[in-house]
Amino acid sequence: MKIITVIGARPQFIKAAAVSNIIREQNEEVLIHTGQHYDENMSRIFFDELQIPKPDYNLCVGSGGHGTQTGNMLIKLEEIYLKEKPDMILVYGDTNSTLAGALCGSKMLIPVAHIEAGLRSFNMTMPEEQNRILTDHISKFLFVPTISAINNLKKEGLEKNVYNVGDVMFDANIHFRKKAEQKSNIIDTLGLYHNEYILTTIHRAENTNDINRLKNIITALNNSGKTIVLPLHPRTKRYMADYNLKFMDNIKVIEPVGYLDMISLEEHAAKIVTDSGGVQKEAFFMKKPCITMRDETEWIETVENGWNTIVSTDSNKILDAIINFFPKNNQNNIFGDGNAASKIVDIISKNF
Ligand code: UD1
Ligand code: UDP
Repeated sequence: MKIITVIGARPQFIKAAAVSNIIREQNEEVLIHTGQHYDENMSRIFFDELQIPKPDYNLCVGSGGHGTQTGNMLIKLEEIYLKEKPDMILVYGDTNSTLAGALCGSKMLIPVAHIEAGLRSFNMTMPEEQNRILTDHISKFLFVPTISAINNLKKEGLEKNVYNVGDVMFDANIHFRKKAEQKSNIIDTLGLYHNEYILTTIHRAENTNDINRLKNIITALNNSGKTIVLPLHPRTKRYMADYNLKFMDNIKVIEPVGYLDMISLEEHAAKIVTDSGGVQKEAFFMKKPCITMRDETEWIETVENGWNTIVSTDSNKILDAIINFFPKNNQNNIFGDGNAASKIVDIISKNF
């Protein structure tokens, strides 16, 4: 079977690291990188460190408005789909690359498989929510990571070909955690101590593109009195400069890091403060208290389990959680058994 996988943004490289090599054991895979993320440390570092197969195509679409970016991807994908004649298109998550990959396949009547299907924030102002709903409704195979995702799909009338396989990011986490232990020296390089700093990421459009929300977040981090390590997403860096916001000395701002360094930073952090989807899950995998600077989350099981607290961008709530939030419960198994990728490939092969 010939499968075209479309990826383009940082978390998709990590998901592909768990899945691509398994696809290739018995199938032909053509890997397309849309070029949505392109900086060395937002793209190439993941391919090098995680042994992701080299993309067969890079569409080099770069940054831009949603229409421009998605439209440019569609134009270029159509040409490749026509030439490669795949049996199936595989996409991950909820980015513009996800929607473009799926939409182009659907228009050309090529079956689409969506990994990380069924997630919902119920906030249609998020580009990700639009992308994931549209992608789910045009996909033939819906691979969901959690039970709530099955229910979300059911409410939208999607019950056929829905498979709860667990989360491919959990697969990646298990696999690369050992490697991170051996290869990453970021803790020493940054002069950090185990459990004595907070790891933070900020990149969600709703937080960066709104000066008040971003200001509240930075105010809370600046006033926390804690050592905070912040690998800064280029989007956030840009808006910090535009809004003339400044970090205080307790915040160690670093460039975005590769996945092995990121896992190591997560492993040794006391707490994690984030607006990232992937990082919320990894906090759970690593048994770290997670403070989520969003109004809602798609990963509700992490909140129900008591390991994640939703604080929006209220400075006082962020500060309070940094000091006082400690999970009380043992963790339930939410994200599967770490074999999501094999299950996906197996299901596709048997049901195609
Ligand atoms: C995208 C996804 C988001 C995902 C995130 C993962 C969409 C709509 N959003 O958000 O769901 O959580 O990726 O990180 O698809 N930039 C660079 N260099 C890069 C990449 C981006 O400088 O390599 C800067 C550009 O100024 C760009 C901005 O970051 O305009 C935003 O990039 P974009 O890919 O549009 O959105 P993300 O915020 O990265
Ligand atoms: N990540 C990384 N380096 C960083 C920040 C994040 O490797 O500097 C990883 C993180 O561990 C997770 C993924 O990128 O696996 C999450 O991506 P991001 O937060 O950009 O997007 P989201 O998951 O919110 O879509």
